[in-house]
Amino acid sequence: MHSDKIKEISEELKTLFDDCTKSKLENIKTEYLGKNGKITLLNGLIKDVPNEMKKEFGMQVNALRSEFNEKYEKVKSELEEAEINQKLASEAIDITLPGTNIKNGAPNILEKIVEEIESVFMSMGYDVVDGPEIEEDHYNFELLNIPKGHPARDAQDTFYVKGEDYLLRSQTSPVQARVMLASGGDKPIRMICPGKTYRRDADDATHSHQFMQIEGLLVDKDVSLSDLKGTFDVVVKKLFGESTKTRFRPSYYQFTEPSVETDISCFVCKGKGCSLCKNTGWITVSGAGIVHPNVLKNCGYDPKVWTGFAFGFGAERLAMLKYGINDIRTFYQTDLREVENFDRREA
Ligand code: DAH
Repeated sequence: MHSDKIKEISEELKTLFDDCTKSKLENIKTEYLGKNGKITLLNGLIKDVPNEMKKEFGMQVNALRSEFNEKYEKVKSELEEAEINQKLASEAIDITLPGTNIKNGAPNILEKIVEEIESVFMSMGYDVVDGPEIEEDHYNFELLNIPKGHPARDAQDTFYVKGEDYLLRSQTSPVQARVMLASGGDKPIRMICPGKTYRRDADDATHSHQFMQIEGLLVDKDVSLSDLKGTFDVVVKKLFGESTKTRFRPSYYQFTEPSVETDISCFVCKGKGCSLCKNTGWITVSGAGIVHPNVLKNCGYDPKVWTGFAFGFGAERLAMLKYGINDIRTFYQTDLREVENFDRREA
């Protein structure tokens, strides 16, 4: 009767592991080999088996256990392998798929040109300084020899923000006055100030109510126009190429005497005449001059001892020239197609 039990289990073993899963497998093991497992319990029956059959019975139980274990191990390893294969299949990378396109940023060319100019001037010992964008009339005009009611103010249609005394600076020139006053009237100065400026201009291709100037000031002893010209020569050659020439034309600014417009030889046609230079061979890039004695005096420098030159570049104009941009609004409209184009406009 005990051997019937063995036969019965042996019969079960034949299909026991069919359609097995990993979790079923462990349950089956417990069911047959656990503490109260079907095969385990067979050991307890041996005491009832007649002596001469005990050996035989023991061997049969062992054989059954071995058969179980063998099948169990086989199914277990098959299941594990299937699991690994499935995992590999699901994690497979299709190397033929197109890659993710990561867009590279490019420096804004206005910033870039400002940084270029900064680095040329710094190499000549200039400091780069900052000034407030909301400025006092006093610095923006009065200290610069443009008193209230003076017609020179009309040229700079100004945004006033608080009565008549505060304004959005219409030029970066007030920073000259601030630096001179801070220097105490007894030290030479070399500084540039790039920064935003504002005017009540109607926006069009060449005007923007917000634009950027780069102001420059040098104060020392025996400074002349030829120092200014030599300085400009270095800067424009660096920016527009070694063959670029500089010329001065007489001009008028209230805070410089004499005043000049600085032209550079056209870097496109090399002076022959083209649409960029309107067939003149020259392009105007800045206003400049010898600091007016009144300005020196107003800002604490004795004009009998000190002299200086000053200049103002329009940053957008430089960038427009250098990168062939024909509308100043391009800088402020954040049209990504244009912005993305900038890095390809590298000269
Ligand atoms: N601030 C002047 C402007 O906005 C530009 C300029 C001209 C600045 C001559 C200067 C200078 O420092 O000396 O038109």
